[in-house]
Amino acid sequence: MGKRVAIIGAGPSGMAQMRAFQSAAQKGADIPEIVCFEKQDDWGGLWNYTWRTGLDQYGEPVHGSMYRYLWSNGPKEGLEFADYTFEEHFGKPIASYPPRAVLFDYIKGRVDKANVRDWVRFSTVVRRVTFDDSSEKFTVVSHDLANDVESSEEFDNVVVASGHFSTPNVPSFEGFDSFNGRVLHAHDFRDAMEFKGKNILIIGTSYSAEDIGSQCWKYGAKSITVSHRTAPMGYKWPDNWKEVPLLTKVEKNTATFKDGTTAEVDAILLCTGYIHHFPFMEEALRLRTANRLASANLYKGVAWVDNPKVFYLGMQDQWYTFNMFDAQAWWARDVMMGRISCPDQATMAKDVEDRIASEDEIEDDYGCIRYQGAYTGELIEETDYPSFDIDGANEAFFQWKGHKKKDIMTFRNNGYKSVMTGTEAPAHHTPWKDALDDSMEAYLGDK
Ligand SMILES: Cc1cc2nc3c(=O)[nH]c(=O)nc-3n(C[C@H](O)[C@H](O)[C@H](O)COP(=O)(O)OP(=O)(O)OC[C@H]3O[C@@H](n4cnc5c(N)ncnc54)[C@H](O)[C@@H]3O)c2cc1C
Ligand SMILES: NC(=O)c1ccc[n+]([C@@H]2O[C@H](COP(=O)([O-])OP(=O)(O)OC[C@H]3O[C@@H](n4cnc5c(N)ncnc54)[C@H](OP(=O)(O)O)[C@@H]3O)[C@@H](O)[C@H]2O)c1
Repeated sequence: MGKRVAIIGAGPSGMAQMRAFQSAAQKGADIPEIVCFEKQDDWGGLWNYTWRTGLDQYGEPVHGSMYRYLWSNGPKEGLEFADYTFEEHFGKPIASYPPRAVLFDYIKGRVDKANVRDWVRFSTVVRRVTFDDSSEKFTVVSHDLANDVESSEEFDNVVVASGHFSTPNVPSFEGFDSFNGRVLHAHDFRDAMEFKGKNILIIGTSYSAEDIGSQCWKYGAKSITVSHRTAPMGYKWPDNWKEVPLLTKVEKNTATFKDGTTAEVDAILLCTGYIHHFPFMEEALRLRTANRLASANLYKGVAWVDNPKVFYLGMQDQWYTFNMFDAQAWWARDVMMGRISCPDQATMAKDVEDRIASEDEIEDDYGCIRYQGAYTGELIEETDYPSFDIDGANEAFFQWKGHKKKDIMTFRNNGYKSVMTGTEAPAHHTPWKDALDDSMEAYLGDK
């Protein structure tokens, strides 16, 4: 084809983009040359666990935000690839909430089978992406970290798949500078055992707060206090867990909250989310968006409205993940290969506006799940990605929400039906709260 495509990041989104191109090649299409830049030394993105925090061995910000003992927070039946099922990968049905290592193995399995590892330049960070209006080409400046060599190359398209749950949003509170304990963001949390026997204060009420609190509870924290800005999570928590209004100040180890109550705490965990951060994109191409279902300035949630030769994958807040990234990657591939054309800029801008307006009308989480399911289905319809029963996948999410409401510490003991294979997941051999070994061998029952 003579075209060159740069993919930034080899996490689940970048891997989906590679698989999308490889699947077209497998069907006989002439595909562009693909170069995927990955700053870590392996693929898998967040699922590639690292013990490191702060800066890595090359002085680059550590990408990883995952921690030990992390299990999927939603049912695997909502994220399964339509072209590579869990049963195909593991050779048997497995339970519904796999730990990180199991999901890491699954996502690697598909791209290993596709044989695309040679497309990735590992330990290579993208420093700068610019576009030249006259040549209509992008210049990508990258840095081979292991050899300390900088290169500059031209590409026809750029796919940004660098994730948006890595650069922490870090608010400050009065008294932090004199607190006699550790203050850390969820991005730097690695092992719940650090907080065994400790009284911890968590700020935030979303998935990191819920899951890191639950991990610390499971591995023996003395007490968990969760402070909210907007509203408490409202689950039926264990006895040593309480929800309080927003923190106003800390004095030594005493935390004071908006309602005047106090708590003695040993450590403070800021589960306050992440920011979309793309310093390597020139200003005119840089995505600036809140963490929402309809991202700003992306036609079909993917193509950069001001220059639809640039694509951003996985930039939405996420209910659907892996199969939504696939839908986006297949769709972006088809634009790059001339199979789908983007309309004029005004029409693309209107598409974004409409998506934002309809997201604003959603009333609850069930509506959000339906919205993102429908979005995923919309993109799939326009490509040759295998279609699947979106209503059935939504249903797994609805059941998951019901199970959480019933008991937040047992929801992971439930199983759901795969819309890809029709198989009902078996119950896991050990209840989540008693399963302290999160290795793949332990989960699959091989150990
Ligand atoms: C703590 C945590 C738990 C989660 N748990 C779940 C879960 O249970 N289930 C679920 O479905 N989703 C979960 N997620 C959501 C997660 O966002 C997705 O599963 C998925 O990892 C997103 O894939 P991605 O490829 O878009 O981004 P990432 O996984 O973030 O991958 C981006 C890749 O880009 C690379 N990169 C970044 N910048 C550059 C650069 N300048 N140059 C070169 N390479 C670069 C990074 O090194 C990384 O490999 C979780 C997220 C977090 C933070
Ligand atoms: N096991 C797992 O699978 C697992 C575990 C952890 C995370 N995750 C994933 O990681 C992603 C990110 O989740 P997240 O919880 O880190 O981020 P998030 O969903 O963006 O939530 C951010 C939270 O921080 C609060 N917050 C932000 N700024 C604040 C401030 N200044 N003061 C007080 N509170 C503030 C927000 O409160 P408001 O509501 O008031 O805005 C919100 O509760 C999600 O996709 C999630 O699924 C998965």
